[in-house]
Amino acid sequence: MDNLKRVLSGGVSAHVGKKVLMSGWAQTIRAHAKVMFIDLRDHKGITQLVFTGEIMQQASQLTVESVVSIVGEVVKRPESLTNPNVISGTVEVRVESLTIESLASNLPLPLNDLTVKEETRLKYRYLDLRSERMAYNLRMRHQMNQFLRNYLSNRDFTEVETPYISKSTPEGARDYLVPARIDPGKFYALPQSPQQYKQLLMVAGIERYFQIVRCFRDEDSRIDRQPEFSQLDVEISFTSQEEVLSLIEEMYKEMVKTNFPEKVLTFTEFPRITYADSMKKYGTDRPDLRKDISNEDELAFAFIVDFPLFEWKAGDKRWGAVHHPFTAPTLEWQAKFEKDPAHALAQQYDLALNGVEVAGGSIRIHQPEIQERVFAFLGHDKTEIQRNFGHLLEAFSYGVPPHGGFASGLDRLISVLLRQTSIREVIAFPKSGDGRDLMMDSPSAVDSHQLLELGLKLVIDDIPSPKTKKSK
Ligand code: AMO
Repeated sequence: MDNLKRVLSGGVSAHVGKKVLMSGWAQTIRAHAKVMFIDLRDHKGITQLVFTGEIMQQASQLTVESVVSIVGEVVKRPESLTNPNVISGTVEVRVESLTIESLASNLPLPLNDLTVKEETRLKYRYLDLRSERMAYNLRMRHQMNQFLRNYLSNRDFTEVETPYISKSTPEGARDYLVPARIDPGKFYALPQSPQQYKQLLMVAGIERYFQIVRCFRDEDSRIDRQPEFSQLDVEISFTSQEEVLSLIEEMYKEMVKTNFPEKVLTFTEFPRITYADSMKKYGTDRPDLRKDISNEDELAFAFIVDFPLFEWKAGDKRWGAVHHPFTAPTLEWQAKFEKDPAHALAQQYDLALNGVEVAGGSIRIHQPEIQERVFAFLGHDKTEIQRNFGHLLEAFSYGVPPHGGFASGLDRLISVLLRQTSIREVIAFPKSGDGRDLMMDSPSAVDSHQLLELGLKLVIDDIPSPKTKKSK
């Protein structure tokens, strides 16, 4: 096409009087007797194309959302016809030649229409993502991630990737298991978080680690919970609770100021509320402390501190870790947590934002004997401890720095910042409320030879099929 470089909607108004090549989707088509208008959409916005004369006939084949390339002249619109809501609203392009790259069939859903059933939006997610709102959400998420990545990189943190095909880590949810072909009958687990890896990186001397990382938990989905979700995961050696909390506070204040300047913080210093006070005063450990809930741009961050170390699991009749079993008791409780487990406190903290838990973390146990006592108190026998955590305890025997950190739920954080009703609105390809990928149709059956290779045989007929739950 005349060897022209492609111009995007964001930049087209700088080319008045010149010939340009533009490509994109025919978002709307308005045909009159002697003129035809097409709103061409690219990833920077919309440009009005004008077709007159012979070329109208070729353009008349176009259907909405077809993909086209055109060459045409950019002209200024008369003042009365400018559109201030569109980035290229002061100009239009008089089309001289048209290439139809791909004709679109009738779309199964209207774009930009929130009344469409969520099942349909998820099934045709690639179309749903064409909407301005979803594209904006993804872009803002990218900008937040990029800010956080830069912020930590500039403060001497190293991003380290850790394995996804891994071993079960006790974060309290059910594991996703991956059958091992190399060892039929054995399984990998997808990590519920990189908790043990990041602690082992501290043993390795990395000292300041972070990672934007996917975590996998086989639990029922909710509006703020997905089977796979992303964390900003951080771990620091030779640190203290105070240092971790001020890092989180400064980082998020700066991120909000840079990426969401219209937002107003309820507290310029994040309050620290003890778990006991929060439960007593608000009946929850993630209180919504906004002064005015109807103010859409208010952000109330608050730290919850001094969590209990253990909780009684009535169903299983045993004690469980409130956070995870690597969390250190407070100094006062280190020698005696077994004696009064209901009152023992942990060096654990959470960050709540407008009533949503957006981060959690702790100072870790780095003394192998205390770690063994916690495992034993939680009911693991010696062989089990060795089998599940032997690697960690051995690692701690070779020189381990005191360390601590946190992980922040990025899906939740960005969905609060963008005032979305569900984290599914900020994830490109989320699972449905009942944990399915409606677009790819998974989970799905596999070939019998794949099972054989893994040494697996289905006994599915013996298992009652779970009721399909409705999305929440
Ligand atoms: P935790 O389990 O508290 O801690 O998780 C940290 C944060 O991750 C988010 N989150 C989720 N987001 C979406 N869907 C889910 N299913 C989901 N589960 C958790 C929450 C939560 O605050 N390894 C520890 C962190 C640490 O101790 O450093 C951990 O994963 O926002």
